[in-house]
Amino acid sequence: MQGFGRRRDLYNGGRVGVGWPGEFGVVGASGWEILMEIERLLQSQGFGSRAECRALVGSGRVSVDGRVCDDPAARFVPDALSFAVDGEAWSYRRFAYLALHKPAGYECSRRPVHHPSVYALLPRPLVMRGVQAVGRLDQDTTGLLLLTDDGAFIHRYTSPRKQIAKVYELMTRHVVDDRQLAALVDGVHLHDEERPVAAAACAQLSERRLRLTVTLGKYHLVKRMVAAVGNRVEALHRSAVGGFTLPATLSAGEWMWLEAAELALLARSE
Ligand code: URA
Repeated sequence: MQGFGRRRDLYNGGRVGVGWPGEFGVVGASGWEILMEIERLLQSQGFGSRAECRALVGSGRVSVDGRVCDDPAARFVPDALSFAVDGEAWSYRRFAYLALHKPAGYECSRRPVHHPSVYALLPRPLVMRGVQAVGRLDQDTTGLLLLTDDGAFIHRYTSPRKQIAKVYELMTRHVVDDRQLAALVDGVHLHDEERPVAAAACAQLSERRLRLTVTLGKYHLVKRMVAAVGNRVEALHRSAVGGFTLPATLSAGEWMWLEAAELALLARSE
């Protein structure tokens, strides 16, 4: 296989340019594009410290657009660059946006106490680059968990002012009656909340099954609301956030990238 020599070839999704050591940019299809050394690019994507990434490249374990790159100082246009580490394909992303189908029995914490962490379900580079859960689900709650390393996104989707809809399907211990349904929509008093908390929507799916939409993101919110009307949540699953529904093809424990289309669906609810 061919490596990269002193004169640096710049490959990026069909856009090919040539760079020299010390060059910091190249004029590409979309104007002036910043070049990044492969060791720094890998570091930004969670493959270790700068020194670790330098060693990774130097030992021939990295390829770019199908060609081994063993020069840690080779520069590339990072945007959407395809590379592989030990044969596993990746593409450069300035920020990582993920959806995880959280199984029961996992804690949304990096330092879990009683159960394994949801971060154990993700590839190591994603954890290393610092993706965080966007809000938390209880250990026994299943369903859609968003994760990202984009702090502004986390702020936007957890801010109470944004009123992002979160849809939960739940099973109750007792049959739900009309009084309980009405109370959930009219608002219930939770002991540490000044104002009543109301569901944005509540549909009864069967005697003991509800679909509840809330816009707040408070600790044990759904369980506390259901308890406040005299019932109890026996199973809780988050099926959607904003305009994005957990895909039926994503099994419990699996994760997927959120691409522009899914991000647009999420944003539709803002
Ligand atoms: N409300 C809860 O009670 N638990 C969750 O995990 C999410 C919302």
